[in-house]
Amino acid sequence: MKVLVLYTTVDGNTEAVGEAIAERLGADVSKIVRVSKIRGFGIDKIRAWFEVKFNRRPGIFPFKHDPRDYDLIFIGTPVWYDSYSPVYNTLFEVIKIYDRKIAIFSTGETDSQKALDKFSKKLKDSVILGRYHCIEPIWEDDEADTKKILDEASDWAEGVAKEAEKMIEEEEFERRKTIYKF
Ligand SMILES: Cc1cc2nc3c(=O)[nH]c(=O)nc-3n(C[C@H](O)[C@H](O)[C@H](O)COP(=O)(O)O)c2cc1C
Repeated sequence: MKVLVLYTTVDGNTEAVGEAIAERLGADVSKIVRVSKIRGFGIDKIRAWFEVKFNRRPGIFPFKHDPRDYDLIFIGTPVWYDSYSPVYNTLFEVIKIYDRKIAIFSTGETDSQKALDKFSKKLKDSVILGRYHCIEPIWEDDEADTKKILDEASDWAEGVAKEAEKMIEEEEFERRKTIYKF
């Protein structure tokens, strides 16, 4: 089974989760990088608010892997004003992701799941096998706490991957049954 982890990040929290998941699953990983840099503080927060509010599509650089080549795609986002990162407005405009097995994850300041709710709606043409949210792992005071959060996220991802594998086996079985009928 081919697994891809896609994520975007400003300060590194979502990146830490995405990289931990990719490492645990031995998955390919693509980071989505904005063309116009944005920081997570000061006047840029107002810019970010506008982008979210008006569903802007900020430019992104081409990334390494095409999600359509993968059986299972993990997609990670920082929470921005209770929503997902606007880079996904651009990404999903450029590449239509549908009929894929997907799992979504987010990192935020609070434990609110609102961004994941919106993300699920945006990805409604795919099968969403799981969702996971955690609070800013890299800003834990204790390294052990950071590790615990990343381990928990990786455990979740492993469970999702097992489920996806089982589904693919069942789908293949059904496909063969159909072929034998002809
Ligand atoms: C522009 C902006 C808006 C944010 N809005 C929220 C929010 O609505 N809810 C929340 O829990 N955290 C919010 N945060 C905090 C980030 O979601 C959190 O720090 C996240 O882990 C950042 O991910 P990153 O380090 O991968 O960029 C916001 C941060 C920024 C920069």
